[in-house]
Amino acid sequence: MRTRVCDLLGIQYPIFAFTRSREVVAAVSKAGGMGVLGAIAFSAAELETELAWLDQHIDGKPYGVDVVMPAAVIEAEPAALETMIPEGHRRFIDELLERYNVPPLPEGEEAHEGLLGWVHDRARAQVEVALQHPVKLLANALGPPPADVVEAAHKRGVLVAALVGAAQHARRQVAVGVDIIVAQGTEAGGHTGQVATMVLVPEVVEAVKPAPVLAAGGIGSGAQVAAALALGADGVWTGSAWLMAAESDTHPVVVEKIAKATSSDTVRSRSWTGKPARLLRTAWTDAWDAPESPGALPMPLQFMLSVEAIGRIHRYADREDSGARELAGTPVGQIVGRMDRVRPAAEIFADLVREYEETVARLSVTLPQRAGKS
Ligand SMILES: Cc1cc2nc3c(=O)[nH]c(=O)nc-3n(C[C@H](O)[C@H](O)[C@H](O)COP(=O)(O)O)c2cc1C
Repeated sequence: MRTRVCDLLGIQYPIFAFTRSREVVAAVSKAGGMGVLGAIAFSAAELETELAWLDQHIDGKPYGVDVVMPAAVIEAEPAALETMIPEGHRRFIDELLERYNVPPLPEGEEAHEGLLGWVHDRARAQVEVALQHPVKLLANALGPPPADVVEAAHKRGVLVAALVGAAQHARRQVAVGVDIIVAQGTEAGGHTGQVATMVLVPEVVEAVKPAPVLAAGGIGSGAQVAAALALGADGVWTGSAWLMAAESDTHPVVVEKIAKATSSDTVRSRSWTGKPARLLRTAWTDAWDAPESPGALPMPLQFMLSVEAIGRIHRYADREDSGARELAGTPVGQIVGRMDRVRPAAEIFADLVREYEETVARLSVTLPQRAGKS
């Protein structure tokens, strides 16, 4: 499975794993792939702790960090942003939680901060922390990273990757100096466009050549890895598959829901962050899609509005006397249909490699026997 991306990053297999779990990052990188830590949920200080842990536990293997710098977002002080959230939206959430009997958080327990890394100064602080560590790859979602961020990464020998959902976006990324394009199809978990991986990958490969492209969205088996390489990708970028890694901290109720879900049980919804993202279909996504929904707010207001509710839902998801379980969910892609059990990350990784080899062997017998060869 060796491609030029392996040589660029010093990895054995061009399999990238996006995850918020440092343990999964370490397991994937140690197995010969590239673990990429999603930084969005961490403050700069927390990210420092996570990366220091990785430096201790990853045996010197390469790893990456993923930040989210949206190309366009409302920039304002947190207090000013709070005033932009309409009362009707707050009431809608209060009524929803009341209907499902979700208690408030216990006194003294706070929801995670609502802004996270979606505003540039937060993401920039994360980048500064990341570049103090031996990261090999800095990835960005939701638009081209600012030129000075690309420059700072390159100065330290760090390659820059960016996620795109359309060929024209890929061209813009290469123009600002992005080294590796992640072409992410609509079937992916998290923020996603509308074009399927099967169609998007060859379009992006053609649009940015000779830049290397990773295929993302719908890749959860070795056959899908082989398909991605067949489409011209130099590797694969995976996300959903790691939610069921034993090392991951996915909520047990969500693990149960993922195990039962079919590939039809996701929706593309703005109810998480304000931008369209593929999520597990739940009572939460249904409520935001219902006729009485006030509609999602733009990023970053939607997450600010809902972060406490999401904290409460997860806090009480396993309580018998609450309907929080029905509201609990996660971003996840259509490959949720094949994610039916929890396994160590190293085992998930080894299966991808083994199935890839089996697939390529199976395909090679379809080639005609060459003349002169018996
Ligand atoms: C739970 C979850 C959270 C995600 N959060 C981010 C994120 O913060 N930044 C990012 O660049 N991509 C994020 N993604 C998208 C992944 O990086 C990746 O592109 C996607 O999961 C690939 O498709 P797949 O889910 O079919 O494997 C997320 C995906 C999932 C499943």
